[in-house]
Amino acid sequence: MGFWSNRYIAVAIGGGIAAYKTLELLRLLREAGARVVVIATAAALHFVTPLTLQALSGHLVRSDLFTPNESDGMDHIRLAQEAELLIVAPATADLMARMAGGHGDDLLTTALLARQGPVLLAPAMNSAMWSHPATQRNVAQLQADGIHWVGPEYGALACGDQGQGRMAAAEQILEAGRRLLSPQSWRGRHLLITAGPTQEELDPVRYLSNRSSGRMGWAICHAALRAGAHVTLVHGPVAMPVPWGAEAVAVQSAQQMYEAVLQIWERQEQHALPLSAAIFTAAVADFRPARRQTRKIKKEESGDQTLTRLTLAQNPDILATIAARANRLTQENRPAPIVVGFAAETQTGAESQAALRALGQKKLAHKGCDLLLVNNVWAEGCAFGSPTNQVTLLHRSGHEETWPLLSKEVVGERLLDYLTTLFV
Ligand code: C5P
Repeated sequence: MGFWSNRYIAVAIGGGIAAYKTLELLRLLREAGARVVVIATAAALHFVTPLTLQALSGHLVRSDLFTPNESDGMDHIRLAQEAELLIVAPATADLMARMAGGHGDDLLTTALLARQGPVLLAPAMNSAMWSHPATQRNVAQLQADGIHWVGPEYGALACGDQGQGRMAAAEQILEAGRRLLSPQSWRGRHLLITAGPTQEELDPVRYLSNRSSGRMGWAICHAALRAGAHVTLVHGPVAMPVPWGAEAVAVQSAQQMYEAVLQIWERQEQHALPLSAAIFTAAVADFRPARRQTRKIKKEESGDQTLTRLTLAQNPDILATIAARANRLTQENRPAPIVVGFAAETQTGAESQAALRALGQKKLAHKGCDLLLVNNVWAEGCAFGSPTNQVTLLHRSGHEETWPLLSKEVVGERLLDYLTTLFV
């Protein structure tokens, strides 16, 4: 069952052009299995019609406080109170002013006054209106009242201007809602994740790399952000956008990833939020071309028919370096982050599971980390880029767990839950 399955969500729509984006939010919520009730202000219905809202939410839409007897038998104020989450999108400057002032002059503001559960606001307006002192005063007031926010974003605005005031995308509002409703088991904790492949340049147009998609690291990053963690994500070239809210460092080569991770390690020692854990999912190239050619290598220049010989140099092992540093802290009786590695192996045959574990145990000891998650990339559903993974977790204490084939999202959640059991 998905996260939104059967959750009761109220969506309130203010009168702004961004209301058209809220239609997409309604669609996403319904598609994810949520039950949705919509309240629109009178102004909102100038931008989107009741018929559209009804079709997308599956219920009649209420706007007027004084309409007697609802024909679908739903009391919208009660529903807005009982919903797990009330999302206001778009939240206009006027609506925020009325909320900050405690008004109850229409159905929506009345429902908001009666609401005790979480409220998530997605503001949308012209950038001058957003930065106006009156609006900022209202923002501060609403923040003090415990209202939550997503956006507004910087970008092109409906009025033709460029600036801050764009409503967050529907996917982002959904994600913000999910974070609000998720248990905050990592709040106040800092997690470092490496993800994706590295590219080792041969010449200005060619590189050595691997098939890593970055999906496992991304899944852990999403899960950690939802659980309230501060996440630093050091990643190689991947096709996915960085999860919103993560502190991302984009690198290309293993050497760059090594330097970025070391810098984060050194910074965290002085950081107000030291690392609680470091998870290394990146598929780091073990070798790089010993010499990067400054000009494109030409096949004619190799002379005869033999191939140009590639000389490789070894890359530093980032995981082993950080594990050694963490172990040193532990020896000094200082708090150290939990260090987690991933190992993708290629075992075949009937004994593959036993061989995989034996390989994993050896690697765990060799790398010096606390935990290693091993998987067989040839096993069903475990290929590079696959949305699923089947892992065996090995702890340095000898504790082992073999998990079933799960979505990478669930593997990420389980791993984070497991790590919380190790925090002292
Ligand atoms: O040795 P192997 O590549 O199988 O080890 C895999 C684990 O080590 C992964 O967690 C990977 O992110 C990490 N690693 C690393 N730096 C390297 C090679 C691997 O951090 N140079």
